[in-house]
Amino acid sequence: MTRKGIILAGGEGTRLLPLTKDRSKQLLPIYNKPMIYYPLSILMLGGVKEILIITTPRDNKEFRNLLGDGSQWSLSISYEEQNNPNGIAQSLLIAENWLKGSSSVLLLGDNFFFGHGLPDLLKNTFNNSNGSTVFLHNVADPSRYGVANIDNNKNILDIVEKPSEFISNWAVTGLYCYDQDASNYVKEIEPSNRGELEITDLNNRYISENKMQAQFLGQGYTWLDMGTHESLLEASNFVKIIESRQGIKIADLDNIPINE
Ligand code: G1P
Repeated sequence: MTRKGIILAGGEGTRLLPLTKDRSKQLLPIYNKPMIYYPLSILMLGGVKEILIITTPRDNKEFRNLLGDGSQWSLSISYEEQNNPNGIAQSLLIAENWLKGSSSVLLLGDNFFFGHGLPDLLKNTFNNSNGSTVFLHNVADPSRYGVANIDNNKNILDIVEKPSEFISNWAVTGLYCYDQDASNYVKEIEPSNRGELEITDLNNRYISENKMQAQFLGQGYTWLDMGTHESLLEASNFVKIIESRQGIKIADLDNIPINE
C-alpha cells in the first residue's frame, strides 16, 4: 500500500502576529511562493501523490483556492480542519478516516528542507521506513525543539520535548514517517501540560515498541522552521540567494518530476 502524506497547516501563528491576524502562517510568502509550497514540494520529491492538508476552519477556503484538488500537479489533495490547536499528534486522528489504514508521512507546514540528494533520501526513506522514522538535524539551540537522545550506535533512546537540560544537538524535525498503527497509538496519549497531544509522545511510543529509525540530515542539508519573524526572513533570504545564484527554483511545483 502506498504511503499517504499529511501536511499540518493549522495553528494560530501567534508568534507571527500581526501577520497572522487574518491569514494562515502557511500562506505567508517565503520569497516568491506561499510557505505551503515548500512542504508540498518535499512530499512530491519523495513520490507522495495523495496528500491531506489540515487547516483551520478560518483558512480552509484560502488553501483550496490556492491548491485546488492538486490535479494540476498530478496529485490528489484533500482537506480537513483542526478546530483548535490541540497538538501535532492530533493530525493523525483527524486523518484517520482518510488514511484508511495506509502508512503516512506527516510534515509540518512551516518546515523547510533543502540539500543535495534530498529527493533520493526522501524516496528511499518513504519507501523503506518500517514502524516510524524521524529526521534529525543538528541545531545550535536544541531547547526549542524535540531533541533525540542517541547512543553510540546511532539508535534513538528517547526524545525529549524542549529539554531544559542539554541532551544533544540533534533536533527532531517536523517530518515523520509512520506505519498504520499511528492513529491508534495517538488515542492512548494524554494531553501534555501545554494541553496538546504531543508528537514527541507518539514518537516515544514507537521507540518503546522498538519501531523507530533515525535518518540523520548532516551538514549538506538545511532545515529551517518558519514560525518567527526572524526565521521567515531567513528562509526568504535563503531561497532568494540559492535561486539567484544558481539559477534554479526551489519548490517549483510545476516542474517536479512525478514518478508514475
Ligand atoms: C514541534 C514539535 C517538536 C519539533 C518541532 C519541529 O514543535 O513539538 O518536537 O522539533 O515542531 O519544527 P512546536 O513547533 O510545536 O514548538
